[in-house]
Amino acid sequence: MPVDSLQAEVQAALGDKYALEREVPRGGMSRVFLAIENALRRRVVIKVLAPELAASLSAERFKREIALAARLQHPHIVPLLSAGLAGPHLYYTMPFVDGDSLRQRMVRERPMAFSDICTILGEVAGALSYAHALGIVHRDIKPENVMFFHGQAVVLDFGIGKALLSASAGEAEADIVRITQVGMSLGTPTYVAPEQGSGDPSLDHRADLYALGVVAYEMITGHPPFSGRTPQQVIEAHANQIPAAISTRRPDVPKHLDAIVMRTLQKRPADRPATGDEIVKALSVTVAPRHSGGGLVVESLANAPRWVPWTIAGVSTTVAIVMAVLYVMR
Ligand SMILES: Nc1ncnc2c1ncn2[C@@H]1O[C@H](COP(=O)(O)OP(=O)(O)OP(=O)(O)O)[C@@H](O)[C@H]1O
Ligand SMILES: [Mg+2]
Repeated sequence: MPVDSLQAEVQAALGDKYALEREVPRGGMSRVFLAIENALRRRVVIKVLAPELAASLSAERFKREIALAARLQHPHIVPLLSAGLAGPHLYYTMPFVDGDSLRQRMVRERPMAFSDICTILGEVAGALSYAHALGIVHRDIKPENVMFFHGQAVVLDFGIGKALLSASAGEAEADIVRITQVGMSLGTPTYVAPEQGSGDPSLDHRADLYALGVVAYEMITGHPPFSGRTPQQVIEAHANQIPAAISTRRPDVPKHLDAIVMRTLQKRPADRPATGDEIVKALSVTVAPRHSGGGLVVESLANAPRWVPWTIAGVSTTVAIVMAVLYVMR
């Protein structure tokens, strides 16, 4: 891929701290580059916010919010390593995840095995529960923001949505959601809860649980509950339409899985599970094997993850990273 002007500009501004290698195919609000962090000789991903988005943001507020996200340390959350300005460009870095995204897996595995679905859901719900307890809502849970590292689900871009929202100069959340179509996203219409789509300022962590329910529905049936020709139509469907019963699309769905997913898709936040842990518990039941789609014995997920990928040098590295972030954000 030819080095374009943004890549060259960012590289020049970052100097010899990072060596940008190549761009990852474009996603939503940002440009994503694979890079080597020279001092530690490790692979990182540098996300550079779209210039048109950065232009309307307060860099100070963005950096303040992103410092909150940097507090997250969980086996199923990809941590933030650093953030700052490269010339006029806002960027943040995170470890490179050498694995597939959930989107890639959903495309490849049709249908996905129920046992895998329950494991993934449990891992993501656990990550949500942890972050929510710290007051951090993701706002953009979707298959592209879940990747697999050594088989374990890890959530990307935690806290970025809130940072963007806080930093955006007076944009209503509903407007930002709609901007998705031109490539800058904060919540993708397919996965936004009714209250997020309508720009409800009192939105809370249960919007993430709804989005996880949409992801679950899609993993089970191969399709999200609602689609439409325009983002507006999808947002309206989330607000007003009842999703088709999962069993009409995948009749062998285990009852406990069906029940918890349909609860997360309730229109009123109060009717959804109250926490991610409730979802984990609901999935932690042993059920009889079924004949198709990877029949299952779902064991307790409570003690599942063992993944602590980025701590090769242990706590001292973490302290160094925190200090580096603080330094960059002065
Ligand atoms: N830390 C990472 N390690 C490896 N690949 C990554 C990493 N972060 C992002 N990617 C890859 O880059 C792609 C684009 O990511 P990006 O976050 O820009 O888009 P998105 O997730 O589709 O949208 P959004 O901006 O709403 O998060 C992802 O689909 C993923 O494949
Ligand atoms: Mg992403």
